Amino acid sequence: MPAVPARFSVLSKEFAAAPHRCFARLRERSPVHYEPAIDSYFLSRHEDVKRVLTDHEAFSTEMLQVRAEPVMRGPVLAQMTGAEHTAKRKIVVRAFTGRALERQIRAVHANAAELMAPFLARGRMDLVNDFGKPFAVHVALDVLGLDKGDWQQVAAWHGGVAEFITSLALTPERRRHCIDCAEQLEAYLLPVIGQRRSRPGDDLISRLCTAEFDGVVMSDRDVTALIINVLVAAAEPADKTLALLFKHLIDRPEQLAQVRRDPRLLAAAIAETLRYSPPVQLIPRRAEQDAVFAGATVPAGATVFCMIGAANRDPGAFSDPDVFDIHRPDLGAARSFTAAAQHLSFGAGLHQCVGVAFARAEIETVAAMLLPLLDEVRYSPGFRYREAGLYTRGPLALSLDFTPVG
Ligand code: HEM
Repeated sequence: MPAVPARFSVLSKEFAAAPHRCFARLRERSPVHYEPAIDSYFLSRHEDVKRVLTDHEAFSTEMLQVRAEPVMRGPVLAQMTGAEHTAKRKIVVRAFTGRALERQIRAVHANAAELMAPFLARGRMDLVNDFGKPFAVHVALDVLGLDKGDWQQVAAWHGGVAEFITSLALTPERRRHCIDCAEQLEAYLLPVIGQRRSRPGDDLISRLCTAEFDGVVMSDRDVTALIINVLVAAAEPADKTLALLFKHLIDRPEQLAQVRRDPRLLAAAIAETLRYSPPVQLIPRRAEQDAVFAGATVPAGATVFCMIGAANRDPGAFSDPDVFDIHRPDLGAARSFTAAAQHLSFGAGLHQCVGVAFARAEIETVAAMLLPLLDEVRYSPGFRYREAGLYTRGPLALSLDFTPVG
């Protein structure tokens, strides 16, 4: 098998500018790609990525102790295994399904209406910075039961936490900044946890404070970590997915028109957006034993990054994978938001995203609100589209013009 040119790197500017242009080359010529600068392996084929995510004995989440725990201030769900994982995951799942989900969708609606109102009459909005980012944080705060008046401060701390988790290499200064953010977020949360222990409400923090594991309530440290876990996991990919959905549809007016005519197609459009441009591009694991992929060995103890974007465009899994098509028969809108999903944008196996149902409902609700309001939607004059991020990836901005709403 020919090797990719020795100088090719997933840490290069070329890759950062447009990862999707390098995916085929990686899958075909270097499916087990080693990056010496960060001593890590990158897997790009669908079957290899799926194997890593579902073989929990051979590939563990141990490295999150150093990649996440310092800023999460305790162990996160993805680090847990066995009965502890099942029990604590259930608590979070309950807060995002059934009746609780219905309540949250009302909160999604109210937040979206309030945040979009000032932009409608202007006929111009940056869907990422004016709307998507504040919207995603507002909704996460509502679900957790935190004060939305503090959203800008929480968003700044959350930015530091997310930077720590999603950086492949951090300078000591940035590392210090991220830890500072996490410590301040923890100091903000601890008094709230104390209040909810004595006067529990209907929110997720109260549930975490009162739920028992093995007959014992969770410690402040465990509750803090799960709150930060949900805050980052819920807010980080939401605005990216929404903006990418609109970008892909604006770039394909025929598919946009079809979704406008039949909003039931929205679920399929969101699923295809997630497949085509997953906001979470990398999922890390540690190899617990030597593992062979495509004739190459990943040694025990090595860090392995699953390349979700590359796996989702593997022709072995999807026909014409580089084409965005909301009607593609090999995806299926219904199963795309379940454990049977063919795309890997929510991960796979035990640690598959707990927020799948909520993420779908959140994006579907807000997109269904926006579509009829953004009549004649198009890029603003002079707007230049740019994306950023290796670990999580999304548009830096999406400046849109539309017919002002009277
Ligand atoms: C489009 C939106 C979303 C995307 C693309 C996404 C993606 C992912 C991915 C790829 C994982 C797997 C991580 C791994 O295997 O290590 C994951 C796990 C997780 N997600 Fe999401 N997520 C989204 C929305 C949400 C929301 C709204 C929540 C809110 C609860 C959430 C909470 C979590 C949690 C707690 C985990 C860890 C689950 C576990 O380890 O058992 N996510 N997500």
